[in-house]
Amino acid sequence: MKSETQKKILLSGAKPSGELHIGNYIGAVKQWVALQETHETFVPIVDLHALTEPQDPAKLREQIIATAADYVALGLDPAKAAIFLQSAVPEHTQLMWILNTLTSVGDLERMVVYKEKITEGKQALAGLFTYPVLMAADILLYKPTVVPVGEDQRQHVELTRTLAHKFNKRFGQTFPIPKELHPEAGKKILSLQDPTKKMSKSHSSLSYIAIADSSEKIRQKIKSAVTDSGNAIKHDPITKPAISNLITIYHAFSGKEIKQIEKDFTNTNYKNFKEALAEVVIEKLKPIQEKRKDLLEHKQKLIDILEEGAEKANAKASETLREVYSKVGLM
Ligand code: AMP
Ligand code: TRP
Repeated sequence: MKSETQKKILLSGAKPSGELHIGNYIGAVKQWVALQETHETFVPIVDLHALTEPQDPAKLREQIIATAADYVALGLDPAKAAIFLQSAVPEHTQLMWILNTLTSVGDLERMVVYKEKITEGKQALAGLFTYPVLMAADILLYKPTVVPVGEDQRQHVELTRTLAHKFNKRFGQTFPIPKELHPEAGKKILSLQDPTKKMSKSHSSLSYIAIADSSEKIRQKIKSAVTDSGNAIKHDPITKPAISNLITIYHAFSGKEIKQIEKDFTNTNYKNFKEALAEVVIEKLKPIQEKRKDLLEHKQKLIDILEEGAEKANAKASETLREVYSKVGLM
């Protein structure tokens, strides 16, 4: 029991509802890659979550496999991390039901992501509303110590903790309380077209840089990124959100400290900085894109990786679900 609570376990996932972009990488996947060295790592592609918004079935299938290619190309190692499809492990939806019986509707009504989607004009479907409960099940099944996510997921992880506490209180200690982790810089990468919004695959393609974007596209998107008034390359998210966002991206892709970037570009202007940034991003993504292309040419290999991942995930998930069913009184 003690050794289980002390074991370092990571769980996190991304929706295959579009192309993975550099916001997903900087805010989440980069942390998974670093932590897979020291943590037992579970990184589902949360395909059931993608269904909370309308998807074209053929396109969804393609995006799922492309997301698996992105995961591996970005550095997740199938020997270290269980990479799998959420839908391949039925315990996710089974635990969701149990958690549903503990979730207060009022808590779900407070979820900012849900409210934002409704404001954007999305239909108020029950699946979209209860999506955080499925996310809580994704997490708690693996009893993780850390959940590395972007800032937009903070409230969902908080709800997960609330549900873990409720379950433990009512049925006895079962779930360790998971902690969300954010990167020091880049927990919220902003849209290139509108720095009041986060970069998102559900907005126009000019607003994000996909992992798979060609060099020309990357140059074009960075060139047309909106900037703030003035011309100085200065990191100040309050008064200069747009240029600060570009500096954060430069930092994440080059490893250079933000202060150093400001110094290096003291006597230049936005245009020069954007040109340099495009080259940094292109250079970093080049080997990733080559690997991605190779993986997509060998889909069977990806399918094998997903099956192997599902097997590892299943072992853990079925153990937790058995424990939960027994504790709540199911036979
Ligand atoms: P999603 O693609 O929405 O499933 O997101 C996958 C992961 O990427 C989650 O941990 C998100 O919090 C993170 N993420 C998504 N968009 C951004 C962004 N613009 N900046 C930082 N992290 C993000
Ligand atoms: N809700 C997350 C997002 O939109 C995706 C997600 C689903 C997730 N289940 C998860 C993230 C479990 C971390 C852990 O980005």
